[in-house]
Amino acid sequence: MLDLIRNYLKNINRVRYEIICLSNIGRRKMVKVITYGTFDLFHEGHYRLLQRAKALGDYLIVGVTTENYDKARGKLGVVDSVITRIENVKKTGFADEVIIEESAGQKFNDIKKYHVDIFTVGSDWTGYFDYLNDCCKVVYLERTRNISSTMLREQRHRIMRIGIIGNGRIANRFIPEVRLVSGISVQGVYNPHSHSARQFAKKWEIDAYEDIEQFYCAVDAVYIASPHKTHYGYIIEALKHGKHVLCEKPMVLQKNQAVEAYVCAKEHGVVLFEGIKTAYCPGFQKLLGIACSGVIGNIRNVEACFTKLEHKDSRELTDLRYGGSFIELGSYVMLPILKLMGVDYERFFFDSIKGDNGLDLFTKVTLRYKTGLATATCGLGVKSEGRLLIAGTKGYIVVEAPWWKTSYFEVHYEDVGRVDKYSEVFLGEGLRYEIGEFLFRINRGVKDDFKLTRGESVALAGIMEQFLKEMRGI
Ligand code: CTP
Repeated sequence: MLDLIRNYLKNINRVRYEIICLSNIGRRKMVKVITYGTFDLFHEGHYRLLQRAKALGDYLIVGVTTENYDKARGKLGVVDSVITRIENVKKTGFADEVIIEESAGQKFNDIKKYHVDIFTVGSDWTGYFDYLNDCCKVVYLERTRNISSTMLREQRHRIMRIGIIGNGRIANRFIPEVRLVSGISVQGVYNPHSHSARQFAKKWEIDAYEDIEQFYCAVDAVYIASPHKTHYGYIIEALKHGKHVLCEKPMVLQKNQAVEAYVCAKEHGVVLFEGIKTAYCPGFQKLLGIACSGVIGNIRNVEACFTKLEHKDSRELTDLRYGGSFIELGSYVMLPILKLMGVDYERFFFDSIKGDNGLDLFTKVTLRYKTGLATATCGLGVKSEGRLLIAGTKGYIVVEAPWWKTSYFEVHYEDVGRVDKYSEVFLGEGLRYEIGEFLFRINRGVKDDFKLTRGESVALAGIMEQFLKEMRGI
């Protein structure tokens, strides 16, 4: 009996002791730590960073970057989706909470919002986040040597060698941009005018090829930046050589050619990609997301305008077959229309103001859909306010020029006092986004072409064909 009583008292004392311990923990301030990263192709460096970050306190919050944020800050070529990257962070067991990092400047607010005591990142960022010392302690943890996501990405896929066909103005803009995308490098240039190719090659320190067969042997992919009329021939030839193709817009000027080219790419197991840079930039992606989210109701009208005054002697205003405002700028103005209203228009109608040589200086295309209208306007000889307007049943979105490099847009409603503002970074010439996407599709074998679908690309070629037929009889 005595034993029983003794045991009973012992148990009561133990429970009392545990309650006291717990209440003491409650009193001691919990130390919250926060860290951020992309955590792509999760590796030992990430693991050790998280382990040490957790050891700095009691509760670890890990911010994982979104795909758009990475693209916006110029980190292109991230392999794992944000979901995979979050899962990998969770699997370590060190993170008590995982949050999404969407923009620069978010860190400061997160620290306040989550009452963070310690901010930590690897020593590759030493000094960079000292400004956060005002709101918490900043700790730079020594980076694990000889391992990084960039290194793993490069080991996974050998560097893609891209060759350029045609070396006009756009090719000069392409090279500095391609150099910012990891995993791809410019091998050389081909131009039947070999003198021009040699000069270009010298300027950019790449190889010049006079023989196109040698050129195809030396590359894995081609960027076609030659005159419009030559696109189709080069595309088919390159695809048949088993090369991935990134072609400047407009890719081709006939619907059948676009269909044939995509079939040919499929047969040869390579990627064919139309380079309309707007389609791949993060701001335009955000715009499409907001427009389709229902905040402006059902979309009833899209108006897109892009004008750029050109000298009367420029190629754009002198090439009687393939010059003129619509061939030059039509891909841009048709893009938001096809993305938002679709490819199944009921009818469309062109009208142009022409110059003395018959080329269109200013063109308007009106499309009628079952549920709405759209107007595309472009000009090389008439200047207008280049804006994109998307009207819906609850509100409208306006994007001022240069909307084709989308970085800011506003959503307006019936209540004029309410305006939602959105912004997104657009870096450099923006070609880096399309190059990054092109490489992503090659390396990942991604069939998903939602940013610019085959159907949209084919529809675009069909509209160009119709325009040439009606306005030029070609
Ligand atoms: N980190 C580390 N040691 C490494 C690599 C990364 O301590 N060898 C740390 C970084 O300093 C950062 C966190 O892990 O605090 C997430 O880094 P992240 O940029 O996602 O990884 P990297 O391998 O540096 O990626 P990348 O090569 O794409 O820059």
